[in-house]
Amino acid sequence: MQTDLCPSAIEAIGNTPLVDLARITREMDGRILAKLEYLNPGFSKKDRIARQIIADAEASGELAAGQTVVELTSGNTGTGLAIVCGIRGYPFVAVMSKGNSVERARMMSALGAEVVLVDQLPSSVPGQVSGGDLELVEHETWKIVKERRAFRADQFQLKSNFRAHYLNTGPEIIRQAGGQIDLFCDFAGTGGSFAGCSAAFKEHNPAIKCFIVEPEGAAILAGQPVIYPNHRIQGGGYAMPHLPMLDPSHVDGYLQVSDHQAVEMARRLAGQEGIFAGYSSGANVAAAVKLLETSFKGKTAAVLICDSGLKYLSTDLWE
Ligand SMILES: Cc1ncc(COP(=O)(O)O)c(C=O)c1O
Repeated sequence: MQTDLCPSAIEAIGNTPLVDLARITREMDGRILAKLEYLNPGFSKKDRIARQIIADAEASGELAAGQTVVELTSGNTGTGLAIVCGIRGYPFVAVMSKGNSVERARMMSALGAEVVLVDQLPSSVPGQVSGGDLELVEHETWKIVKERRAFRADQFQLKSNFRAHYLNTGPEIIRQAGGQIDLFCDFAGTGGSFAGCSAAFKEHNPAIKCFIVEPEGAAILAGQPVIYPNHRIQGGGYAMPHLPMLDPSHVDGYLQVSDHQAVEMARRLAGQEGIFAGYSSGANVAAAVKLLETSFKGKTAAVLICDSGLKYLSTDLWE
């Protein structure tokens, strides 16, 4: 008899469901289709890039058997890498700001990672990772890479981040939606999921409009001044003026979402749709609602539900 077994949790990554948020859009003209990335083994979309980074580095010979892997992470990429490295036999060191929620560090440790926590800047707010905090983490990451002659799984630089979404997430959405999407909006951290999905969408149909989502007050990609670097939307909005992953010709516009709007929408996702997700997922859906309420009435928007609400139990998201 044929079986449908995954040889490991790595093969359980991807092919997540696409859900029509028909309750949130009930009073609106248009549809929002949400890809439930929190159903990946590490509860986020970043499992996909972890799998791709390791597979590509193995194929190119950049990663040797048993070599240590190091990465700077807000928790999700590190969780994905902990899973993939654990299964493939690579020691993994996750370098993370103390500003990220504690659940993430605990989860990575449980999955076998060595977690190095880096203090925030004295001016930073606990629980809110700023660009300055990230610079400190970056510095510590390179130090460890040099000391241990490790492979840096650099999600900001490696094409594998783009490829994971270009080869999988984007095509999955097109297939699941029967090709029928008009809009895509995505909260940018590295910009990898925006870049990969938008490339796949534009290839399928150049008329699909793709929007980058940023925090209100930290919308540097939209060319706005950064007056609120300590926003609460974890996983992105780092106010980095240049994201190597992004192809400007695939960006049709920029949308801003406030902390309040992201939180309110994450709570509505839980309460009305049974979808328990984090801040950035709330930001993506809030941005899609803005699009449908203004210039794009009657259209279909696709968004990613980036990670699980379980990762924010220690924050004020679920007070
Ligand atoms: C929860 C969450 N949302 C959104 C993002 C941004 O995704 P990307 O790096 O693909 O732009 C990240 C990235 O770490 C994340 O962890």
